[in-house]
Amino acid sequence: MNLMSSIISNLFVTTVGNPETFWLPEQASTVAQSVDVTFALINWICYFFFAAIVSALVYFAVKYRRTSHVMVTDGPTHNTTIEIVWTVLPLLLVIVIFVVGMRGYLDLMEAPEGCYEVQVTAQKWSWTFDHPTYGATEVAELTVPLGVPVRLLMTSKDLLHSLWIPSFRVKMDVIPGRYTSLWFEATKLGVYQLNCTEYCGKDHSKMLAKVHVIPADEFAARMVKLASEYVDMSIEQLPAYAINRLYNRCQSCHTLDGAKSTGPSFKGLWDRVNAGQVGFTSGEKLSDLFGSNTVYGVPENYIRTSILDPQKHIVKGFLGSMPSFQGQLKDKQITAIIEMFKNLDTLTDEEGNIIVNRDGTPRE
Ligand code: CUA
Repeated sequence: MNLMSSIISNLFVTTVGNPETFWLPEQASTVAQSVDVTFALINWICYFFFAAIVSALVYFAVKYRRTSHVMVTDGPTHNTTIEIVWTVLPLLLVIVIFVVGMRGYLDLMEAPEGCYEVQVTAQKWSWTFDHPTYGATEVAELTVPLGVPVRLLMTSKDLLHSLWIPSFRVKMDVIPGRYTSLWFEATKLGVYQLNCTEYCGKDHSKMLAKVHVIPADEFAARMVKLASEYVDMSIEQLPAYAINRLYNRCQSCHTLDGAKSTGPSFKGLWDRVNAGQVGFTSGEKLSDLFGSNTVYGVPENYIRTSILDPQKHIVKGFLGSMPSFQGQLKDKQITAIIEMFKNLDTLTDEEGNIIVNRDGTPRE
């Protein structure tokens, strides 16, 4: 899109559901319009005064340029009319901007009655979305109903993050040790980008999620299914479920292709663990902890502990920055992750790409 037509189309952002413009992504929530109107208003004022001031500057510079060395006049000392105009006019303008901005701000701050509530947990470097109404949990994906106000109640497990959905025009800091909230009502079906917009460390740029807006009458069924999808799975079905549904909360720190990241790669992890070939920063070796009357008995217990109490044994060469997943994973989901490790070579190719769908069928 060329610059001029983008700027022109931007100047008329007033109807709900406008497509992307040069300045802003498409509008997909009820508050988007008022945010964009405020933005366009301030933008217009800037264009107008930029043009007016620069043209006056050029005009006067030419008209009153120095043509001789004779002093013509001492110049005026003051002009009451001009001084009143340049005081009152900007005052009126900032009052208008304040009123328009304040109305939009109040809209954004006050969630309507009867919102559908989602609990959001941010941690380095993933988003977890809990639907308490259904007991369902999503990671790196948030499904919301179309045309229903949704309130996000958010907190962080480690440090400052910030949740931002550009198409919904909502953004709010997510802070450890307290709750913040925001609300939106989606006005368009589709998939929208959600970002972390507060620099939170090495993989800040990977702290992303997708917002899926689905028809309101399909929402309840989708959530019920999500809440219970793994409950009736057989042990053979668990690895494909884990790699597609659970691995996304590990992926910012644990690769599948063997590359070192914030944590050890999952590639070959089961073989290393099973053989006890893991060294810890304490100087202990995993093989010393196996066997009867020892810490772990069987290797599976080491993995379980690593998920629930990651600081207990920190693998040599890593900083031990993993948060605990206590309370976030059900026992069967932990089993699914262990089964995923055991079967990783059937779930991924050599480059670490996932090659199966959630139901176990090959991925195209
Ligand atoms: Cu979380 Cu940036």
